[in-house]
Amino acid sequence: MLTSPPAIKKQIFREGLLPMKKSAKAAIAGLTGLAGLALVVTAAQAKVIKDDGLTPYEVVGDVAIPKSLTGKPGDPARGRKLMANRKKGNCLACHKIKQMSDFLFHGEIGPELSDIATNMPDEEIRLRLVNPKFVNPDTIMPAFYKVEGLFRVKKKFRGKPILTAQEIEDIIAYMHTLKESE
Ligand code: HEC
Repeated sequence: MLTSPPAIKKQIFREGLLPMKKSAKAAIAGLTGLAGLALVVTAAQAKVIKDDGLTPYEVVGDVAIPKSLTGKPGDPARGRKLMANRKKGNCLACHKIKQMSDFLFHGEIGPELSDIATNMPDEEIRLRLVNPKFVNPDTIMPAFYKVEGLFRVKKKFRGKPILTAQEIEDIIAYMHTLKESE
C-alpha cells in the first residue's frame, strides 16, 4: 500500500497543530519544503502486534489497523455511551464533540472530533484507539487496547485492556457518524 502525497499533507496539517518532538518538527519542515513530495513516499510496512492475552492485530505503515479486531460490526449507540463513560473511553475529558453536547464539560487537551469521520478513515481511528503511540510516541492519549508496558496499573485491572476489542469497534462505529455537515 502506498501513502499518497495528499494523505501525507493532510497528516502533516493535523500533526502540525499538535505538540511533537523537535526531530519530528524538523523532519516535517524539511518535508513541506520539498518540491517533489513524492520522493519521500515509501511503501508502508506491516507489523503484527501480539499483546499478552489480546487479539493480535496488524499495524500498517504506523498509521492504520485496516482489519476489524473482531470481524463483527460495531454498535454506534454502545460506542457513544462508552465514549462518555469515565471508566471506559472518557474521551470527553480531552476532546470536544458537538454531537455529544448532551454531556457537560468537554476537554480541550486533544483536537475536536465533531468532524472526525470526514478527516480520518476508520482504520486510522482504530490505531489511535488501540495504541496512539504508533503515531505520536509522546502522546498523552491512553492506549485503550494494550496490557504490556503500562505503568501504575491497579492489581484488579492488570492484564485487562481499558476497552475490549468489541468496545473499540463500537466506538469506531460511532466515530464513523461524526460529520459536521450532517
Ligand atoms: C488524556 C486525554 C485524552 C483522552 C482521554 C483521549 N484522547 Fe484522543 N487525543 C488526545 C490528544 C492529546 C490527541 C492529539 C494527538 C496526539 O497527542 O498524538 C488525541 C488525538 C485523537 C484522535 C486523532 C484526531 C486528529 O484529528 O488527529 C482521535 C481520533 C482521538 N484522539 C480519539 C479519541 C477517542 C475516541 C477517545 C476515547 C475513547 C480519546 N481520544 C481519548 C488526548 C486524549
